[in-house]
Amino acid sequence: MIRTLLIANPKGGSGKTTLAVNLASLLAARGDNVRLLDLDRQQSARRWLASRPASLPAIWPYQPAQNQGSQTGWLIIDSAAGLHGKMLSRMLKLARQVIVPVAPSAFDISASDEFLRALGEEKAIRKEKTLAGAVGMRVTPRTRAARQLEDWLQQQSLPLITHLQDSQHYINAAFEGRGIADLPARATDRLREPWLALLNWIDQQPPVDKLPEELTEYL
Ligand SMILES: Nc1ncnc2c1ncn2[C@@H]1O[C@H](COP(=O)(O)OP(=O)(O)OP(=O)(O)O)[C@@H](O)[C@H]1O
Ligand SMILES: [Mg+2]
Repeated sequence: MIRTLLIANPKGGSGKTTLAVNLASLLAARGDNVRLLDLDRQQSARRWLASRPASLPAIWPYQPAQNQGSQTGWLIIDSAAGLHGKMLSRMLKLARQVIVPVAPSAFDISASDEFLRALGEEKAIRKEKTLAGAVGMRVTPRTRAARQLEDWLQQQSLPLITHLQDSQHYINAAFEGRGIADLPARATDRLREPWLALLNWIDQQPPVDKLPEELTEYL
């Protein structure tokens, strides 16, 4: 039984890959089977995975051969900046949940506003076959930017699942193929807290028996 998550926001640098790899590390740390599919030609998530020490909880690159037989756990799809139109519609048909990271800046908010409107018009979203949720990225609590992001997200039709803080731990961990789940708990306790709401949200997704065949086209 497997669940599929798409991480998407056409705005470059909104935090898609950071969200994808850290979510993968948290799920792997709790013992779940996790596969990562990197649709971005820059291949940041794939490279992160290649640099991941073998001693850490395993995360697997998605392989088409795995599309046969029984499947368990999670498939996390990191998408590229600029995802829109037909490709967006196709990806939404494959994933049951889409997570939209949004950074707290005027430019990110205005670019994401357009995307959320387009997302709301997608058939998979309208028919609730795919559920969408937003995550605030790189948020420094009690700043004007944090308030602006929260106010704007509250006006949107998708739920605001959580805010992830701005921290060098995310940046430093990424150099070593790690996520915050792979850093000492003492140092990252407070950073991990807001992830619980995201884990709760994705855990509600009903699993399916098999990944869609169509996925193999994207490799
Ligand atoms: N919570 C955070 N704290 C600190 N830095 C962060 C955080 N989230 C993301 N970043 C940094 O912000 C930058 C953009 O993040 P990331 O590469 O994950 O975005 P992206 O949406 O995948 O970008 P692209 O559209 O180019 O694929 C990176 O330098 C990343 O390290
Ligand atoms: Mg990226």
